Amino acid sequence: MATYPELKNRVVLITGGAQGIGLSTAEEFAKQGALVAVLDIDLVGAQKVADSINQTGQRAIAIKTDVTSEASVISSLKSVNDIFNGIDIIINSAGGYGKLTSVEEMPVDEWDRTVALNMRGTFLVCKHAIGYLKKSKAGRIINVSSISGRTLFGSTSPAYASSKAATIQLTRFLAVELGPFGITANSIAPITTLTPRVKALRTAANIEQIASQIPLRRLPEPIEHSNAMLFLASDNASYLNGIAMDINGGRVLM
Ligand SMILES: NC(=O)c1ccc[n+]([C@@H]2O[C@H](COP(=O)([O-])OP(=O)(O)OC[C@H]3O[C@@H](n4cnc5c(N)ncnc54)[C@H](O)[C@@H]3O)[C@@H](O)[C@H]2O)c1
Repeated sequence: MATYPELKNRVVLITGGAQGIGLSTAEEFAKQGALVAVLDIDLVGAQKVADSINQTGQRAIAIKTDVTSEASVISSLKSVNDIFNGIDIIINSAGGYGKLTSVEEMPVDEWDRTVALNMRGTFLVCKHAIGYLKKSKAGRIINVSSISGRTLFGSTSPAYASSKAATIQLTRFLAVELGPFGITANSIAPITTLTPRVKALRTAANIEQIASQIPLRRLPEPIEHSNAMLFLASDNASYLNGIAMDINGGRVLM
């Protein structure tokens, strides 16, 4: 495991931290000694993650947050700042989609819900975190996009893919706007990942079929994204700004 001593006591806020990539990332930042705030609409799940981190002797809190609600985001960020006395790193991992469909068949309310979760949510958290990040000595924004935002990959939701492309562009915008304040903004673009949710949803044959199209011939584990985010948050990534890091085993090249 890489160690980043500079992350000790840095405050990291992770949306969607109750599950999947967000959960793994909360655990990995805690192992580095960071102070972890798990923000999720699922408070029970978020509290479970925080409790299990606290049992290891590290520090974590859980805050119920709906990233699509501006009032909820403002209040959660204030709570994190009040409890941990600052915010250094934000990771926007809350995201996803409900329906695989074509543009023609896409119900408009499904479009709005998906765009709200992936795009409005990321925008709201970034927007309202800026004031706190400006006070940090090492402010970092890491937005979780998707290979679907980089290229047309398999069957997906057009609302999801469009929002994930927008996430990358929003991140570039933030990189330019916040660079003068010493804050970096980068995104990661994962491929289908072996989270518990994905494992439950897909058959072994389906996973095998996706893997066969990836140069590395396997799907990633959540920790492989967490490792990239640790690096992006670390001092070693001090000059990386505005990138979209492809974490897809080379699939985007095919
Ligand atoms: N898992 C994959 O295969 C994969 C691939 C590419 C990109 N991604 C992206 O990675 C991120 C994490 O994906 P995952 O599969 O680990 O997610 P997941 O579905 O396992 O977990 C998402 C978390 O977000 C929370 N959430 C949902 N709506 C919310 C809201 N309105 N406010 C706050 N929290 C909310 C959920 O409660 C859940 O804990 C997402 O942005 C996803 O789009 C995932």
